[in-house]
Amino acid sequence: MKENMAQEAKRPLLSEGGKRAPLGEVQGILLPSTTVNNWDQIQKFKAKNDDLLICTYPKSGTTWIQEIVDMIEQNGDVEKCQRSVIHHRHPFLEWARLPQPSGVEQANAMPSPRVLKTHLPTQLLPPSFWESTCKIIYVARNAKDCMVSYYHFQRMSQTLPAPGTWEEYFENFMNGKVSCGPWYDHVKGWWKAKDKHQILFLFYEDIKENPKREIQKVIKFMGKNLDEMIIDKIVQETSFEKMKENPMTNRSTVPTTVMDQSISPFMRKGIVGDWKNHFTVAQNEIFDKDYKKKMEGTSLPFRMEI
Ligand code: A3P
Repeated sequence: MKENMAQEAKRPLLSEGGKRAPLGEVQGILLPSTTVNNWDQIQKFKAKNDDLLICTYPKSGTTWIQEIVDMIEQNGDVEKCQRSVIHHRHPFLEWARLPQPSGVEQANAMPSPRVLKTHLPTQLLPPSFWESTCKIIYVARNAKDCMVSYYHFQRMSQTLPAPGTWEEYFENFMNGKVSCGPWYDHVKGWWKAKDKHQILFLFYEDIKENPKREIQKVIKFMGKNLDEMIIDKIVQETSFEKMKENPMTNRSTVPTTVMDQSISPFMRKGIVGDWKNHFTVAQNEIFDKDYKKKMEGTSLPFRMEI
């Protein structure tokens, strides 16, 4: 454990000048203040029955499932998937950062059928989604890897507060003091929601273990029927290695004032079990004890390694 930390910790945090905006709050859930300021517009968003909503807790493989869904929609046509960067293909519902149009404005301007993205927990999702018959794909990732990925993301993303030291971040993540609130409630809320709405609930670890099997589930859920050869192509094109090199998915077009990838790349490692390089033995014990309490009574089958 922890072998990579010394090297990573040497880099200064851009936040040291204290320039990053603090988070705001909605119903006890921390969110970027620009999102909070736009809350009325977000809550009034009108979902349509033929929308497909991609939902995740941050750092759970959102971009990965987005690219998979787009490849399926475009019947494996790589060129069509190159039409624009992934974050423009699928409006990010709660995104609000001037001078760009907000996620809601982008979605409203988009012809149907639309694919949308959100990180909101169930209780904050605009009510029109629950009133609609739209399909939802939720991807969950084990909490330990999520925490590690989120920590490195906050080091480089200028739109979120600086993460502080790893030790501080470890506490904040466990206490839900990060954007989008507690991981525990997010995954539990969406797991429960699948009993009352059309939700395909996937796990990052399962996609990593057997991408073809999981991609076939997505194809079926989307009501598509694709040839074996096309499915194999989608598996190849959405591999970590391919997506890391693809400027339409690797965020290389995002200015360094928003994401400084010299600190940590957006496509960082893409593996299961990197937490073992970060958690100390003592942190692991504290985490497991707390996790057991918070996740008691749920049937959610997370795997911390594969
Ligand atoms: P790591 O930081 O652990 O590498 P999101 O898109 O929700 O922000 O999630 C980002 C995480 O998903 C990052 O995790 C990133 O490397 C990983 N990821 C992105 N594309 C992937 C792919 N094709 N295969 C595996 N992991 C991928």
